[in-house]
Amino acid sequence: MSDPLVRSKRRFAGVAVSATAAAVALGTVLSVSTTANAASTLGASAAATGRYFGTAVAAYKLSDTVYSGVLDREFNMITPENEMKWDATEPSQGQFSFTSADQIVAHAQAHGQRTRGHALAWHQQQPGWVASLSGTALRNAMINHITGVATHYKGKIYAWDVVNEAFSDNGDGSRRQSNLQATGNDWIEVAFQTAHAADPGAKLCYNDYNTDGVNAKSTGVYNMVKDFKARGVPIDCVGFQSHINSASPVTSDYQANLQRFADLGVDVQITELDIAGSGTAQADTYARVVQACLAVARCTGITVWGIRDSDSWRSGDTPLLFDNNGNPKAAYTSTLNALNAGGSSSPPTTGPTTGPSTSPPTTGPPTTGPPTTAPPTTAPPTTAPPQGGCSASVSVNQWNGGFVATVTVTAGSSAVNGWTVGVTLPSGAAVTSSWSATGSGTSGSISYSNVSYNGSLAAGRNTQFGFQGTGTGPSATPSCTAR
Ligand code: XIL
Repeated sequence: MSDPLVRSKRRFAGVAVSATAAAVALGTVLSVSTTANAASTLGASAAATGRYFGTAVAAYKLSDTVYSGVLDREFNMITPENEMKWDATEPSQGQFSFTSADQIVAHAQAHGQRTRGHALAWHQQQPGWVASLSGTALRNAMINHITGVATHYKGKIYAWDVVNEAFSDNGDGSRRQSNLQATGNDWIEVAFQTAHAADPGAKLCYNDYNTDGVNAKSTGVYNMVKDFKARGVPIDCVGFQSHINSASPVTSDYQANLQRFADLGVDVQITELDIAGSGTAQADTYARVVQACLAVARCTGITVWGIRDSDSWRSGDTPLLFDNNGNPKAAYTSTLNALNAGGSSSPPTTGPTTGPSTSPPTTGPPTTGPPTTAPPTTAPPTTAPPQGGCSASVSVNQWNGGFVATVTVTAGSSAVNGWTVGVTLPSGAAVTSSWSATGSGTSGSISYSNVSYNGSLAAGRNTQFGFQGTGTGPSATPSCTAR
């Protein structure tokens, strides 16, 4: 857990959480029964506390009636899962493409839902053309991108994740090395100022993972937000992704961490919630997260990262509120109950804002037993950093037809001044884009070398790069050669 390398690997590794471990870590969480006036959907229950309840949505699934049926019944906030990212919205420089994202925004507007925009500036899922840019050219491309996207959606976005995942997992609270960071430390505030100029009505958020408790990374973010508020940089909110599993559990200071950010004068939001596991342990952990948000007056809403387990980017973890058939799981019931129990520190001031529920939930509780936990989809790390030289490990987020691979490069007992990583792709797989490395080849045996800003690694330190593609992602441990 204290090893950032292990933590970051596990983040992507689809580790199935031990239900028992999660229950022990969290302590016992009481089940709360719905009251007579309790609202019967997640969105209505959250609204009764002045909050929203949202989900990530994929445009191509909107035609699936089970999917859109649950979406429109339960959720009142939508985050496009991939459709507003840089690679999707500006596939060629200066040529914007909004078809899929527009579809989601139109769906939201037609169904009384609001939209969280995600994500304007991020080191991942950048279009290929960005890789050849650096310095002023990259800075200007980022500004042009943010302006183009935020202007297109002006007035239609509740909150933007302006900058995503800009802090490292090194355990020292520092910024993540990336091509954007290499344009200058002020890139984040420039991104916020640019978004504010384009859409002054949208709330502007910083969003990250492994910031869900009080730790070095969240404190790094905290210090940045404090500085931004002191200097008038337009930041309105901080998003806590909350991808929860045994390697990233809900810690006892989860609520206190939300509160310390809120005390800086920003809203806080839980932006990508998913919780590996099943049954009661998973249900209790969901309740715990909901209770933490409700206890923080400026926690304005919760978004889960997908609807059915099969929609999840980590489907092997069965981390969501609905099963593969769209039926509510125990975690759904505990989430709804926790919402209906309301927040202790921010009760509704005017009584319930929704009328008594006269119709019971249309779907009953799950009738099948809890799913057994699926095995991890990627192998656990097997190699220790060598003496001198470097090592590499890969974690893969696989879905039907494609993958995103994140590679961690770690220096051995001496510093390295450059590295080359060799990766073998299964047959049929092809890389479509990469970030934070220069690649050679798109199929079979491919290699990646450092770019200017991430070649130098002190002994034992690591950096990450990534690539995405079609087919099945790599599973073998990559080779690493140091210079
Ligand atoms: C994930 C999507 O769910 C996947 O479909 C995609 O392949 C990779 O990105 N942090 C974020 C999200 O901010 O954008 C990521 O979404 C999950 C991690």
